[in-house]
Amino acid sequence: AAAAVLVVLLLGAVAPAAAAEVVTRADFPAGFVFGVGSSAYQVEGAVAEDGRKPSIWDTFTHDGYSNDNATGDVAADQYHKYKDDVKLLHEMGVDAYRMSIAWPRLIPDGRGVINPKGLEYYNNLIDELLSYGIQPHVTIYHFDFPQALQDEYNGLLSPRFIEDFTMYADVCFKNFGDRVKYWSTVNEPNIEPIGGYDIGFLPPRRCSFPFGSSCDEGNSTTEPYIVAHHLLLAHASAVSLYREKYQYEPATETLDDIEASARMNDFHLGWFMHPMVYGDYPPVMRKNVGSRLPSFTDEERKRVKGSFDFVGFNHYAAINVKSDLSRLDKKLRDYMYDAAVTYDMPFLKSNDQFPFGLFGLTNDFMKSAPWALKKLLKHLRVKYKNPAVMIHENGAAERPDPSNASMYNDEFRSQFLQDYIEATLHSIRNGSNVQGYFVWSFLDVFEYVFGYRVRFGVYGVDFNSRARTRYQRHSAKWYSSFLQGQELRP
Ligand code: NOJ
Repeated sequence: AAAAVLVVLLLGAVAPAAAAEVVTRADFPAGFVFGVGSSAYQVEGAVAEDGRKPSIWDTFTHDGYSNDNATGDVAADQYHKYKDDVKLLHEMGVDAYRMSIAWPRLIPDGRGVINPKGLEYYNNLIDELLSYGIQPHVTIYHFDFPQALQDEYNGLLSPRFIEDFTMYADVCFKNFGDRVKYWSTVNEPNIEPIGGYDIGFLPPRRCSFPFGSSCDEGNSTTEPYIVAHHLLLAHASAVSLYREKYQYEPATETLDDIEASARMNDFHLGWFMHPMVYGDYPPVMRKNVGSRLPSFTDEERKRVKGSFDFVGFNHYAAINVKSDLSRLDKKLRDYMYDAAVTYDMPFLKSNDQFPFGLFGLTNDFMKSAPWALKKLLKHLRVKYKNPAVMIHENGAAERPDPSNASMYNDEFRSQFLQDYIEATLHSIRNGSNVQGYFVWSFLDVFEYVFGYRVRFGVYGVDFNSRARTRYQRHSAKWYSSFLQGQELRP
């Protein structure tokens, strides 16, 4: 199976009080998968080892665009410690591990020669997982685009990306497909167009309406749409290749703001789901973006429509949006203006201590909102014909506490995860076709622009030690006991 993976932001409303109920793993349908996740650049390290070449994230971090000049050079060093990590996964009792393959490790120049050491690493990791009965759920592309292709043809802005991505996916399917049964094409296809080509705070830092970061190259009025279009076509092309060649088995509650939240959903989720279910972008995108929104040829439409077996969703937070239709009167518009909404982006507000803002702190910007996950799953059920869903990421961030390196006491995280697992079960009982749930993240990871200033791991990592020692947190223990049959209580 193959799928596009999306992150979803939903409108806030008042959360109903959670009903007291005893939930155990046995309440989930047979075959339901519980896992934890990571991604290559965020955990592997060894960026210049064994033939790997840079991705756009190496360039970005080496140019000093993450907090504290943090890089993924060593990260959690999973490249060298994968055996220990798989052992921890086994001890935790997960069914599955969500991981990604680093394109520039497998094919260092982006196209052409395959790196034997890259093949060997992913073969070893996959085999190690399988030896413990842990299913690998593999994302083909998780933000770490090869710098070589960025330099050669401007990366995702060029349709050449579609061909190279398909060839890269082919290499993955051919080499690992005998053992990997869950493939995802693209991680968070809405984040890259917005972050890298509209706001410009992520690589390749293109924008013409800078928000808190300064960009001198790019065109926010068109580029986010072109990039998303290419991602969709690359996704669809990899899926048809897979099917043909490899698949052997089958803010306030005013009407204005409610409409604004529906628009937000269409601009984030519908941007990808609508083409995949109905063969075109959502009508409101066609209307507001006009001729700047790329069109599908009949052939492309056919290929994109139905191009998934399951959909992966990453869910973290609810964002309150407000309607601002006056944005549509502006002559020069970008993605944010086209959606005609406003919302606060505290994570982009910088200060001396955090030049790139502070993202993801659960009790600050990201309030726990399990009701929003239910709302999202209902939306998928009703509007997009109830697709099979993997919740590929859900998790809670905190700031590292220098006086307590292990940060064992993360009961708040256990509570957060418990509330979401409960919400997942409720949605299944209401008819949603959810087939798996993955905690983000297994380990503390390199958190992109925010560097190592925020931690998501159920296992902590001591980034000050060369050994990158792992610490079991309360949440890992708690998740593990739930997986072993205990009642769902933090
Ligand atoms: C989204 C991304 O897929 C992942 O790479 C990131 O670390 C987490 N969510 C948290 O921001």
